[in-house]
Amino acid sequence: MIPPIHLLDEIDSTNAEARRRAEGGDASSQWIVARRQSAGRGRRGREWNSDTGNLFATLLTLTNKPAAEAAQITFVAALAVADLLDAFATPGAVSIKWPNDVMLDGVKSCGILIESGTQASGALWLAVGIGVNLAHAPEGTERPATSLAAHLRSDIAYPPAIDDAATVLAETFAVWQARWESLGFQPILDAWTARTRGLDGPCVARLGHETVEGTAEGVAPDGALRLRTADGALRLISAGDVF
Ligand code: BTN
Repeated sequence: MIPPIHLLDEIDSTNAEARRRAEGGDASSQWIVARRQSAGRGRRGREWNSDTGNLFATLLTLTNKPAAEAAQITFVAALAVADLLDAFATPGAVSIKWPNDVMLDGVKSCGILIESGTQASGALWLAVGIGVNLAHAPEGTERPATSLAAHLRSDIAYPPAIDDAATVLAETFAVWQARWESLGFQPILDAWTARTRGLDGPCVARLGHETVEGTAEGVAPDGALRLRTADGALRLISAGDVF
């Protein structure tokens, strides 16, 4: 079943709103979607450009899984966004970059930021925040960015409206989440690996304030990136460390 979608004209941040609801005791799964954010949050404490035309959505969901297992939802989110973009983009354009950047022709088009906490009941809440560049890409960012509008299939004139994109995302997310819940992580990791580029070559992982460079050597069974650093050491970098 697809959680209800609450579409707002403007909010500070859909992740912040999800956190307020979770901390206020709201225990129902729901999507919070905004046409515009006044204080969109990105990874590493950055601002997320949130002008009208792009999708800003957060799934608030509760789980009884231990935190390390619950963090696998980041791979579910990447697959859901990849399916959303696939429905509108030129064939073959969509790929994933570890752990959850969804790319169009190799350029970042989406960002995912997951926040979490514990309710008084002991249940873990997850706020899976997803920003998709539908209509435009921000300029002047540290890494180049693109938008779906620049990669549309030839028979599609415009990127989808926010409410349509949110509905498709909620549907694709529900499919992958149900697979994860019923079959476990392995099929998720397999599907994610098949769509992910750059798991076997030069790689820079940015973890909060630390940057680790090396050569990627695939992923561990829990999705952690195996990164061989210049001194020959093998580091396992958990997707949860990329915040
Ligand atoms: C990144 O830096 O790559 C992650 C960006 C995540 C942005 C989304 S937009 C919807 C949700 N609300 C926020 O404030 N941030 C996330």
